[in-house]
Amino acid sequence: MSEGRPHRLPGDREPAEEIARMLRVDHAGEYGATRIYEGQIDVLGASRGAGEIRRMAETEKRHLSRFDTLLRERRVRPTLLHPLWTVAGYAVGAATSLLGEHAAMACTVAVEEVIDEHYRKQADYLVDADPELREAILDFRGDEIAHREVAMAHGAEDVLGYELISVAIKTGSRLAIWLSTRL
Ligand SMILES: [Fe+2]
Ligand SMILES: [Fe+2]
Repeated sequence: MSEGRPHRLPGDREPAEEIARMLRVDHAGEYGATRIYEGQIDVLGASRGAGEIRRMAETEKRHLSRFDTLLRERRVRPTLLHPLWTVAGYAVGAATSLLGEHAAMACTVAVEEVIDEHYRKQADYLVDADPELREAILDFRGDEIAHREVAMAHGAEDVLGYELISVAIKTGSRLAIWLSTRL
């Protein structure tokens, strides 16, 4: 048995293909995040939490531009669903915001919890396969965890129907990840 290498089973993808899929889905996710925050800002731009929302949106733009560069450098095409995320991300951000600032924050908590788990799984895979990309992903994961904390501090759990919103957004986020990895 080889030491320190991830076990690869017959039928498992080559690391290069696996990493291309990771970059594609992460790029899609960070783009979706920028769209969610744009939807939130358009509705809640004048609210108390608007400053925090803008700051989080800036972080997502930084994450996105890093993945833009990585896709270009490594010649990985973006997901075919990019146009869908333009609309769906914005709609999720705007719709939750119309329910109020606490609902918008609940949306952020749900998305970030899914992304935290998603990036953690990728980081586990990348230990040997691509330590440099792993560093970037862990760095971004730290930012996403911080966003979750900010949203919690801004009353995410105070919204009526928190559990319902959380489950719906998490289910949608996982579906978006599943689709963007494959398409
Ligand atoms: Fe991000
Ligand atoms: Fe985030």
